Amino acid sequence: MDRVKTGIPGFDELVEGGLPASFNILITGAPGTGKTIFGLQYLVQGVKNGENGIYVSLDTTRKQLLAQGSEFGWDLEAMEKDGKLIILEIPLDLPEVNIFSLVEETVEKIKAKRLVFDSLINFAINVDQFKIPLNYRVNSNMAAAMGNVDSQGRVLYQGKSRERITYLLINELSKLGTTNLVITAGVEGEGQITVDGVSEYACDGLIILKSLAIGDSVNRTIEIKKMRLTKIDGGIKSYDITSKGISLSKVEN
Ligand SMILES: Nc1ncnc2c1ncn2[C@@H]1O[C@H](COP(=O)(O)OP(=O)(O)OP(=O)(O)O)[C@@H](O)[C@H]1O
Ligand SMILES: [Mg+2]
Repeated sequence: MDRVKTGIPGFDELVEGGLPASFNILITGAPGTGKTIFGLQYLVQGVKNGENGIYVSLDTTRKQLLAQGSEFGWDLEAMEKDGKLIILEIPLDLPEVNIFSLVEETVEKIKAKRLVFDSLINFAINVDQFKIPLNYRVNSNMAAAMGNVDSQGRVLYQGKSRERITYLLINELSKLGTTNLVITAGVEGEGQITVDGVSEYACDGLIILKSLAIGDSVNRTIEIKKMRLTKIDGGIKSYDITSKGISLSKVEN
């Protein structure tokens, strides 16, 4: 199994050297825990390794992400100009968007190997406007009669059930051949880990970020809860956010 280096110091050695290639890894945490930074750092590492990446944003604008990157010394705009990175802003104000086709075309454009999806929460909130291709195709006659079919003859599922469309999205993302970091948010309480309630089962890996403010300091913890086909060096570890990004171990300045 190929392992994909995250670029997060101290992380890869906990999962046999990196994320299992082509897997969907879910990353969950409350606002401000560093999910977006984690995602950007993962793509920047990809560019360093010659693996192109896509940042699919339903959350912040491309401009905000460029600004966030520059805080950590990452020139995302230059990476885009070099054709190594694309920040794909998904429009949330259109009545209908075939989100998966947009993602698929963008991956194809730069032969991306890494993908970050930010976030499933905003996807679920705007579920009515999204369409996802289903697993079967129809011929052109049927397509004309049905209407709701994409250019490859795939029947489109129009979002109604949050759970179902989230499941379909994750399923489709896993066919892209990219190694995916899928961002979502956690819920307080027993049992359910994510807001949508299905993604933690549909994904191949699950990373949980937490932060707890104590006095003047913030205590941040990371737990790798699940990673298919991987022996996890377990337990809860602490991590920091510094001017170099996220790290689980001390980084020399
Ligand atoms: N230079 C820095 N040094 C230390 N901490 C920083 C620095 N820059 C940002 N942070 C921390 O990073 C956090 C923001 O990270 P990020 O945007 O990745 O969070 P997020 O989990 O994506 O949040 P949301 O769910 O709101 O999108 C802030 O809470 C801030 O404390
Ligand atoms: Mg974020």
